[in-house]
Amino acid sequence: MHLGFDFSYTHMGGRWRMPGSWEGRTFPDVTMYEDVARIAERGCLDMIFSGDGTGVPDTWRGSRDAAIEWGMNWPRQDLNPIMVAMSRVTKHIGYGLTYSSTFMHPYYTARLMNSLDHVTGGRIAMNLVTSTRPADAANFGFDELMEHGSRYERMEEFVDVCRLLWDSAEPDAMLWDRATGRVGDPAKIHDVRHAGRFFKVQGPLNTPPSPQGRPVLIQAGGSPRGIRASAYVADHVFGADMALPLQVKQRIALDQALTEQGRDPQTVGILWQTPIVVAETEREAHARRDLLLDAVPADAVGAYLSYNAAYDFSTLPQRFSLRQLHHDIIAANASPMGLVHELSQQIGPDVEITREEFFDHGRRFATSWDTTFAGTPTQLADRMEEAFEATGSRGGFMLGHIVSMPGDLIAIVDLLVPELQRRGRFRTEYKGRTLRENLAEE
Ligand SMILES: Cc1cc2nc3c(=O)[nH]c(=O)nc-3n(C[C@H](O)[C@H](O)[C@H](O)COP(=O)(O)O)c2cc1C
Repeated sequence: MHLGFDFSYTHMGGRWRMPGSWEGRTFPDVTMYEDVARIAERGCLDMIFSGDGTGVPDTWRGSRDAAIEWGMNWPRQDLNPIMVAMSRVTKHIGYGLTYSSTFMHPYYTARLMNSLDHVTGGRIAMNLVTSTRPADAANFGFDELMEHGSRYERMEEFVDVCRLLWDSAEPDAMLWDRATGRVGDPAKIHDVRHAGRFFKVQGPLNTPPSPQGRPVLIQAGGSPRGIRASAYVADHVFGADMALPLQVKQRIALDQALTEQGRDPQTVGILWQTPIVVAETEREAHARRDLLLDAVPADAVGAYLSYNAAYDFSTLPQRFSLRQLHHDIIAANASPMGLVHELSQQIGPDVEITREEFFDHGRRFATSWDTTFAGTPTQLADRMEEAFEATGSRGGFMLGHIVSMPGDLIAIVDLLVPELQRRGRFRTEYKGRTLRENLAEE
């Protein structure tokens, strides 16, 4: 199994003040993150990861106040400098950063990833997302979200350009020959000359080739079109924390898409987003998970849900069925996946529910309560083995959405990891030189 640790939400959604969290240090204090890196590397985890968003949620009631007051998806930062700092206090663990192919330009991004690959010594991954959030899009010149299918077409072209740029300098292009003074071999630097629907890039990248050449690419998207894009762009996929049967469905669909593109499905893992709480006793683990339910008020839950679905749920009538709501969310170009889709699958699209019932589900969805694996190391290792085998015994888990940091990360490293190691499911030392090599290890 491969294990990542996603720290995206640890300073938001009320988690920052839960028992077990840092006191006297708040986001974005870099020393906290250096500690996180050391702890995660002690557990031999493959990578530390963060998602990202670039706007302040403002869909709920047409206002950003709830997001700011309760710290819902706010504040955030570009985490690349923080990951550089983390990489400097570790030697082996990898770092995954999220960027949106809908908003970024591939020349800038390919160059940034090349630089980060140098600084980290070949330990960088880029997670590409298409972004469903109007507040993020509004900062990049969009009055509304780009159409869902077009976002994926842009992502595929974005990755085409990045790959051409990363390949534009051959691995042995640098000479640094003190005797002759020659710096680079012109025969080993190549044009890109890309002219497509979204981008026109001449190339080459003006950087030395980096340790991984092409940094590891991760992609998170669960719709049929998103899965097709995963098969095209991703070395490894970041999968949502859905119910196991839905994850099995995604694995089958991805395998089919990979085969259609002539790729070997065995080489592409899915790292399943896995909210987790581990404790010595089941009672303690469940009590900790329950803390999530009261971590933020209802207004904050509304802000989170509305932001991600591009739909103001404060306007819901007292009773409604999910079919029309799902239709409206798709029409707004957000995503066909997410809470409303999952609820439709669970209770049926035409069953009427009340606002209270919807927000009850919404609270558990927004806090990841429903999908949080909570238990003893033995219970969690059992569940992870079951999920791992059901989804093709490839990839692994992106552990995260923990209740508090560093408390729950320390519990993962000191309780869960040793149990997985005892079962022969997880490494006891790093073997690869780069993140790509560590992720390829069987
Ligand atoms: C596991 C997972 C993690 C995601 N993380 C982010 C993120 O950090 N930032 C973001 O803007 N979108 C994120 N997304 C949203 C995706 O980029 C994508 O826009 C969304 O899932 C819609 O694609 P889909 O319709 O193919 O599912 C994530 C999606 C998944 C499944």
